[in-house]
Amino acid sequence: MDSSRRKLLLRGSRLMVAVAAGQNGLIGNLNLFAQSPMPDSMAGMHHGEPSGTGPAKSTAQAASAPRAWLHPERLARFVDPLPVPQTLVTGETRPHPHQPRVQVPYYRVAMRRVEVKVHRDLPPSSVWSYGSSAPGPTISPRKGQPVLIEWVNNLPGQHFLPIDHTLCGAGKDIPEVRTAVHVHGACVPPESDGYPENWQTPGQSLTAFYPMEQDAATLWYHDHAMGIERLNQYAGLYGFFLIRDEEEDALHLPSGKYEIPLAIADRFFYADGQLHYPDSGDPEAPWIPEIYGDVILANGVIFPYHEVEPRLYRFRLLNASNSRAYLFSLSNGHRFHQIGTDQGLLPAPVELKELMLSPAERADLLVDFSALAGTEFTLQDQNLTIMQFRVAAAKQPAKPVEMPAILRKIEPIPESAAVRTRTFTLNEYMHPKSHIMLMLLNGQYWHEPVTEKPELGSTEIWSFLNTTQDIHPIHLHLVRFQILDRRPFDVDDFLNYKKFGYTGPAAPPEPNERGWKDTVKTHPETETRIIVPFTGYLGRYVWHCHLLEHAANEMMRPFEVVAPAKLA
Ligand code: C2O
Ligand code: CU
Repeated sequence: MDSSRRKLLLRGSRLMVAVAAGQNGLIGNLNLFAQSPMPDSMAGMHHGEPSGTGPAKSTAQAASAPRAWLHPERLARFVDPLPVPQTLVTGETRPHPHQPRVQVPYYRVAMRRVEVKVHRDLPPSSVWSYGSSAPGPTISPRKGQPVLIEWVNNLPGQHFLPIDHTLCGAGKDIPEVRTAVHVHGACVPPESDGYPENWQTPGQSLTAFYPMEQDAATLWYHDHAMGIERLNQYAGLYGFFLIRDEEEDALHLPSGKYEIPLAIADRFFYADGQLHYPDSGDPEAPWIPEIYGDVILANGVIFPYHEVEPRLYRFRLLNASNSRAYLFSLSNGHRFHQIGTDQGLLPAPVELKELMLSPAERADLLVDFSALAGTEFTLQDQNLTIMQFRVAAAKQPAKPVEMPAILRKIEPIPESAAVRTRTFTLNEYMHPKSHIMLMLLNGQYWHEPVTEKPELGSTEIWSFLNTTQDIHPIHLHLVRFQILDRRPFDVDDFLNYKKFGYTGPAAPPEPNERGWKDTVKTHPETETRIIVPFTGYLGRYVWHCHLLEHAANEMMRPFEVVAPAKLA
């Protein structure tokens, strides 16, 4: 592909996004694209209609009269309290799958359609939930205490969001509504991992076993059904899964009402309160490459407020959006500390003024409100307001909170521990015939044979050459890893002349990335290297981009953990 072609593609993807946003008034001005020829693939699209006229055509939501958009900027702010998801409790046990005399806690979680209030002034919205709200209930096991969870699909038989039947695994010959629950970041046997093709239809359930032989961490669960996971998550199928352990207990971090799981996710709504997922305008192929909603939900609510005491709080922050990355900060410039990453505690707290999270990344944060008694301020994504904090007046003068200096020991894995390095390209292509955009890992499709077969117990370096202008957050199931470095390279040379050359020095991971991760931001035109110990279980798992629209369109590949050759 020549570079003008590549640039056209990139423009195409931005145009698509801008159109989606423009429909809803988030981007008022599409001049950005006025000079550029419109790529063929966009020819069928409806363009940024002024807000309020509704979509020209919407495949799954065809209505005879145009449906009005929600104008989030007109909604009253900070009128709803921030909901905090309930923690699931169970009194039931079932036999351990491998040690039948041992009983383990058993939970039953049913997915269903429920009505929720996303804002005081909006009618209830229909969402799909793992309980009675989205995010669903928080599941909170302890390290060393395995659990069984029966995930029950009690959803309707028809989807309410636009399925693209041309995508891999979403053909017209299979049931529309399918679910596969994945606990993101969990080290579990393959049959319990929510492999995308291992789905259940309404009326079916799957009991998954979670051994919980892993460190305390902020995990989350979400749907992963092949070809429709972006729609299922958008519909509301996500929740927190917080693993606890003694190492973390010993730090006496804020707990109970002082520990708040906070999931941030963007959406589009109609004025009647119902969810809208934009489509390409082609009813036969409604997939869009990315989605940036004009409403940002905090724990499922628009512009909530949260009343806090002037003291230390712990926030488990999750970016549960399909595509949007956030640059979080507090409107009063107050600093906070990050104490944990995707896979648990950092070696030491990292002080931050702003924090960037790509989809699926988590940050464990300590926020000290003690010097802010009696004030109000907001959580921001750059200039977008997400929610408000109201700090109560102080009963006594604030005493400064002491931050633990050391959180836990994390030994950096030496590169010499790796038995091999695998190099992957991340590409965005336009299909030459259909003109449909496609994202690939190493130029391979989902259904091609498994090419990555790390040996159980071995350590490998995986290097991602991002040839695109997007940050792709790459996630590997089963494992945790460390980031080695990021280094820019010449993409034009690489794509056009198959010549590889760096254009700058390697940069170490950011201070708040120097712990165990399961999702890594791969920067544009940059090589990102991670080092991965493949511990856990034998079997087939997946790795993918966590921009859900990309993952749905082939930016996902299987890998298989195999027995070490010397033992085979
Ligand atoms: Cu968050 Cu494949 O997962
Ligand atoms: Cu991607």
